[in-house]
Amino acid sequence: MKPVVIGNCTLYNADCRDVLPELGRFDLLLTDPPYGLADKLQGGTWGKSYDGDHKDWDHLRPDFLPSIVEKCNLSIVWGGNYFKLPASRAWIVWSKPDRGLTMADGELAWCSWDGNLRIKELSRNPNNKKRVHPTQKPTSLLQFCIHQADKQTHNSTIFDPFMGSGSTAMACILEGRAFTGIERDPRYFDAACERIERANAQGRLFA
Ligand SMILES: C[S@@+](CC[C@H](N)C(=O)[O-])C[C@H]1O[C@@H](n2cnc3c(N)ncnc32)[C@H](O)[C@@H]1O
Repeated sequence: MKPVVIGNCTLYNADCRDVLPELGRFDLLLTDPPYGLADKLQGGTWGKSYDGDHKDWDHLRPDFLPSIVEKCNLSIVWGGNYFKLPASRAWIVWSKPDRGLTMADGELAWCSWDGNLRIKELSRNPNNKKRVHPTQKPTSLLQFCIHQADKQTHNSTIFDPFMGSGSTAMACILEGRAFTGIERDPRYFDAACERIERANAQGRLFA
């Protein structure tokens, strides 16, 4: 399958199951897969606020996720608490200071290495920008993740097979890492390409 290549980012508009056999190993898996919560959340505040948009892609939990973890030297999986992954002491907690909402006060990421739990305090939308994806992760949160993984070993190649709007790619551009991403939904894939193109152009300007 032919990817779109923008700078140091290699991007596939495909189901990751079709692309995975073509790819080699990566230093770090940094991903935020669908949690399979669409039906549970339907009608709730979160579901209504996105007008059911989440339903298309959050319907099925990718139970093949552990096979992707095996392809990578280190892994960080947002929503790792929804998957059958080995027991770990090393979790990243995203603590959201804007409390008192009907949504959760935080989110959890499973880490593959042995280490202590770390907490990142960060508001839901730190730059107050219009979000492209209903569950878009802040770029600075993903930069924090890369820094945590780098404490184990430096990670040059980073992989996100559920890239949504390309937030992991944005963190990789800022941290100077090679990124490979896969997104099945053409709307989010196009949005990711646009964001990545813009960030790359900005980087070239500053260089
Ligand atoms: C939780 S969202 C990721 C959001 C992302 N972290 C962001 O900041 O924009 C998960 C994404 O995985 C995509 N997806 C679901 N199953 C997939 C599959 N089998 N292959 C590729 N992408 C898939 C969905 O379309 C969705 O955009």
